[in-house]
Amino acid sequence: MSADEPTEDEATTRLREDWEDYSQWHALILFHLQRFSRSSRLLAAMKVAIVGAGISGVVAGAHLGRAGLDTTVFERNDAAGGVWSFRGQNVLLVGSGVSSIDIARELGPEAEEIYQVSRGGAFDLPASLLPPNATRIGEIASFENLAAEADSLKDNSKSLPWRIFLRDGRELAKIHRIILCTGYHISLPFLKQYHSDDTPVYEANNTVLVTDGTQVHNLHKDIFYIPDPTLIFIGIPYYTATFTLFEFQAMAAAAVLSNQAFLPIREGMRIEYQERVRRKGVGKSFHSLKDKEVEYVDELVGWINRDRATVGAKPVEGHTQAWHIANADRLQKLRQMFEKT
Ligand SMILES: *[C@@H]1O[C@H](CO)[C@@H](O)[C@H](O)[C@H]1NC(C)=O
Ligand SMILES: *[C@@H]1O[C@H](CO)[C@@H](O)[C@H](O)[C@H]1NC(C)=O
Repeated sequence: MSADEPTEDEATTRLREDWEDYSQWHALILFHLQRFSRSSRLLAAMKVAIVGAGISGVVAGAHLGRAGLDTTVFERNDAAGGVWSFRGQNVLLVGSGVSSIDIARELGPEAEEIYQVSRGGAFDLPASLLPPNATRIGEIASFENLAAEADSLKDNSKSLPWRIFLRDGRELAKIHRIILCTGYHISLPFLKQYHSDDTPVYEANNTVLVTDGTQVHNLHKDIFYIPDPTLIFIGIPYYTATFTLFEFQAMAAAAVLSNQAFLPIREGMRIEYQERVRRKGVGKSFHSLKDKEVEYVDELVGWINRDRATVGAKPVEGHTQAWHIANADRLQKLRQMFEKT
C-alpha cells in the first residue's frame, strides 16, 4: 500500500459518504476496498465491502463469509426500498422486458393488481415469470386525461384521473401508478472515475466500466474487473434463473478472494473478453445468457473445482439434478408459450 492510498477506515468512510448519494434501486455489485489481496500473505487482513443488500448482496455475503472473508454490507435504501408505498395500488407497467419483470416481482406482494403491457418485442420475457396478481395485456391505444389540473396527480393514494384504452378495445380503470419499463440503465455513480458517459459503447477502452449505460465493460466472465479483479460484480447477466446464477458468481468471487481459485493473467482475461465481444457484440445483448446459462455455470464450476483440487479443497456442487429437471420444465413452458403466440 503506497502512502497516498487511503487507510482502511478512510476508504470505508468515503464509500459510506459516496453511497449516501447513491439513489438507484438495485446495486448488484460488491467490491473490495483495499488492495491487500494482491498478496496472499495479507489475506487475513482483507476486508470486502458489499455494495447493495439486494439478493445478490445477500448471496455474496453468505458465500464470502463462509470462505472466511471479513465483509461489510452497504445499502442505500431502507429494507425493501419503499416497495410498501405501492401497497393496495393498481400499477401499469409499460414494457415486458427484464426491468418490467423485476419490478413486477418486487411489487407483487404489495400491489393490488399489476398490468404489464407487451408489444411482443425481441426483449420481452414470458408472462409465466410474472407474480400471481400480475396480468399481461396488449398494447395501449391511447390515454385520455379527465382532469383539468395537473394538481390532481399529487395525491398518490387516488387513482390517476385518466382513461386508458387498449388496442383490443378494452379500457383500464383505477390505475394509481404507471411505470415506463424501458430497461436498466447501468450507472455506478460512486465509481465516477470509471464512467465515460459520452463515449459510444463501441469505443470503450480497456479501463472504462460504463459508457452509454447499456453494459458493463471490461469484466472477466461478467464478474471480475480485468484491470483490478478485486473489484467484483455479482448479478450482471440477465435472462437467467437469477438466484442460482448469483450463487455461482458469489462462489467464484469467494474462491478467488480466498485463494482457492485463480484468475488467468490479465492478458489471458483480456483475450477471452475480446473474443466474447466479437461473438456477442457490445451493448444490451452483451450480458444476455439466453440459452447459455448452463454452459456459463458449467464453465465457472469447472474452473473453480479444477483450482480447488490443486489446493486440496473439496469440489463445489454445480447445478443439481433437481435444478436441471426444473430448468427443463421451465424451458418446456417457455417453448409452449412461444408456440401459442
Ligand atoms: C396480490 O397478491 C398479494 C400478495 O400475494 C395479496 O395480498 C393481494 O390481495 C393480491 N391482490 C389481488 C387482487 O389478488
Ligand atoms: C479510457 O477512458 C477513460 C474514460 O474516458 C479515460 O479516463 C482513460 O484515460 C482512458 N484510458 C486509456 C488507457 O486510454
